Amino acid sequence: MTAIARPKALWLGRWGFVLAATGSSVGLGNIWKFPYMTGEYGGGAFVLVYLLCIAAIGIPVMMSEIALGRRGRGSPVDAIRRVARESGRSGLWATLGWMAMLCGFMVLSFYVVVAGWSVSYLWKALSGGLAADSVEGMAAIFTANNANPWNLGFWSTLVTVATMAIVGKGVQAGIERSVRWMMPGLVIMLVIMIVYALFSGGFKAGFLFLFAFDPGKLTGAAVLAAMGHAFFTLSLASGAILTYGAYLPADQSIGRTTLTVAICDTLVALMAGLAIFPVIFANGMDPASGPGLIFMSLPLAFQQMPLGGVIEVVFFLMLAVAALTSAISMIEATVAWLNESHGVSRRRAAWGVGIVLWIVSTLAMLSFNVGADWKLAGRHFFDWLDFLTSRLMMPLGGLGMAILAGFVMHRQAIRDELGLPPWLHVLWQFVIRYVSPLAILVVFLDALGWLGAGFDWRWIAAILALALVGEAVISRRSPTPR
Ligand code: PFF
Repeated sequence: MTAIARPKALWLGRWGFVLAATGSSVGLGNIWKFPYMTGEYGGGAFVLVYLLCIAAIGIPVMMSEIALGRRGRGSPVDAIRRVARESGRSGLWATLGWMAMLCGFMVLSFYVVVAGWSVSYLWKALSGGLAADSVEGMAAIFTANNANPWNLGFWSTLVTVATMAIVGKGVQAGIERSVRWMMPGLVIMLVIMIVYALFSGGFKAGFLFLFAFDPGKLTGAAVLAAMGHAFFTLSLASGAILTYGAYLPADQSIGRTTLTVAICDTLVALMAGLAIFPVIFANGMDPASGPGLIFMSLPLAFQQMPLGGVIEVVFFLMLAVAALTSAISMIEATVAWLNESHGVSRRRAAWGVGIVLWIVSTLAMLSFNVGADWKLAGRHFFDWLDFLTSRLMMPLGGLGMAILAGFVMHRQAIRDELGLPPWLHVLWQFVIRYVSPLAILVVFLDALGWLGAGFDWRWIAAILALALVGEAVISRRSPTPR
């Protein structure tokens, strides 16, 4: 069986895909969300569950998305339609591609606002605007930064323009070329941060906080938050990884590249934790201070330390670079779709989408100032975008991707794409058919509040055992099923 379509563009360098996909995965999710979530959910226990989720859901689903992208060679809508048709299934599966594309767009609409915070903090760090002598003082700086829509709008617009300029240039000249220097730069900055943390006097406390496993802290809420975050941090079900997979040359191994990306993403999250918590502990601050952790506590901590002013600049520059390499991946799917399916040039597609994005993200930005009272069911527009994407669309989309790769896609097609040794393929198939969907379903149902306190985890084990027996019986009856 041969691949369906010829790719229009492929990554040029051997590391093109890995750099771009790692650039997509490593972002605000690793440096902003992961540390504050770890802080809120009590450290090591959360980290352990998060690692398990990356292994049991993240990696298998990422492999599926790359395989779907490479098989269908196109934007999520086109690639999924082609793969479904090739497998003799309905083209309506493309709906999943639409949802992924919309999800990427929606994530970007609020992501540029947080990325805007990062760039504005870089500016403040450079111009001496982060001077305060208490957490309250830092909180006042954060609030003042948000209060003026012109100020906040300026920074998020800047991020939008930079994103669109890169994406408009194309896969190789724009995305690949930019990640080739941004990713190594990011690693260098992170290493500088960790070396600094090593000498901060709080390294041991930070290390223990991240890695000491305390089963008492393993609550249901922590498990579910860790699962949701695994999706977000690996950029799953948002069209990003699938579209980047469409440009992956046929001779590169999907298993190996996925593993590399997932390991790099995890390492960066852990390293970010190792860079941030020691500084927090060395200055006697609270690790559980929520989303403001890196915008309030951290700058204050830096202020109290030698060379803190320089390190602060490195930190916010690192944050801005990480955000940008993720932002470009969120919109690539839509630009690729307009380009392939509607013949719009990439440059025009990027600026056209950029204008719509600017309007939606401006509405999200207004949630922090003039629109502070515009709430629907208790949530701002910004919160709605975050809630709908990470709580509903990503789990649903991930479930769809797992079903598509596990049950719908032609067996031989997925086998050809993944190219795994037989025993590993069997393992992957079991995980993608049962383990990942079940885990995702639990997150999803919980987000809807349908899993009451009486939920018993033994149900999951029972269903998995049943599936295992079922699969064994089926494969004995028909050794080469579709
Ligand atoms: N993985 C990114 C992060 O951790 O910041 C977020 C993200 C990127 C989500 C791309 C979705 C996406 F399509």
